[in-house]
Amino acid sequence: MIILAIETSCDDTCVAILEIRNKKLKILSNIISSQVKLHAKYGGIHPGLAKREHERNLPLVLKKALSKAKMPKIDLIAVTVGPGLEPCLWTGINFAKELAKKMNLAIIPVNHIEAHIFANFVGENFQFSIFNFQKFFPAICLVVSGGHTQLIIMKKIGKYKIIGETRDDAAGECFDKTARILGLSYPGGPAIAAEAKKLQTACLQTILPRPMIYQKNYDFSFSGLKTAVLYKVKSQISNLKSQKFIQVFSYEIQQAIIDVLIKKTIRATKDYKAKTIILGGGVTANEELRKQFKSKAGKLKINFFAPAKKFCVDNATMIGITAYFQWLKEKTKKSKKISANANLRIS
Ligand code: KG4
Ligand code: ZN
Repeated sequence: MIILAIETSCDDTCVAILEIRNKKLKILSNIISSQVKLHAKYGGIHPGLAKREHERNLPLVLKKALSKAKMPKIDLIAVTVGPGLEPCLWTGINFAKELAKKMNLAIIPVNHIEAHIFANFVGENFQFSIFNFQKFFPAICLVVSGGHTQLIIMKKIGKYKIIGETRDDAAGECFDKTARILGLSYPGGPAIAAEAKKLQTACLQTILPRPMIYQKNYDFSFSGLKTAVLYKVKSQISNLKSQKFIQVFSYEIQQAIIDVLIKKTIRATKDYKAKTIILGGGVTANEELRKQFKSKAGKLKINFFAPAKKFCVDNATMIGITAYFQWLKEKTKKSKKISANANLRIS
């Protein structure tokens, strides 16, 4: 089967073509057109601009994906329907509908959060996920990106319950906003990680709060962390020119976010007697976060999965894989009614 997948929920225009034969996955193409430069001057995503760019980019990205995949015969179309920015979601959906009509194909609607989890199945884990994954459930999934921070219990493939989420900003949003305060580039996550890495010795002094870390729930809050950075930087504004100051603050921002994410995920893992921790979303590309999670999971003898870094951030390969699992379950190519849902919940 050959699946053409489309992702436009945020600021990346993505098309991927996947071939799945004999339970083996081959990525024929995975094209991403990033709008990062365009949104950088706003320090975040401008939805109107993003929609216009998706409309402009989609035909070009599709053409590139088809030619890289050597114009294969497509069997199924997959598209993200939510959560995300509604105008952006509709652009992808309308494009998918037109394509499906032209090619006389069905469309599978995909949840973006579920797809971030399924990004773990790229590569050798694909076969593994089909044949052998049952023994890893229940699993606790932590999805952290620019728009989302959720802890989800996954009872099996396709069965989820959200047990905690952010009450204000997402973890990635916190990276992006605090990076802006420090005068670093957008997206903030990679910029802060790079500055933190330059620090020669670990920062032993805790200078920022770890919001909600000791609260006995699985929720998060990151806007207070951003405010704390703002006040501390304002009171030491002359230091903004010092490289050491930027490095120390970057280290602390990164570590504060990691501390809270790990603490809450481990608590959920113990409370729900989960056998596995699964990460997903742009923030999980963070090297320190992966390293510290892996070490903690190892000590507790809990299985640990994180997607290949390239598939942590938004891409259409994860959309195609999720659609394939949905198709396996339903075995129908009949089209469903498809519409965008900016606040779609995983369930
Ligand atoms: O999943 P994603 O590409 O888009 C959304 O669905 O939001 O995630 C983008 C987010 C941005 O906030 C970006 O700063 C963050 O992921 N990010 C990182 C890293 N790479 C991307 N955060 C921390 N460390 C990174 N290395
Ligand atoms: Zn995402």
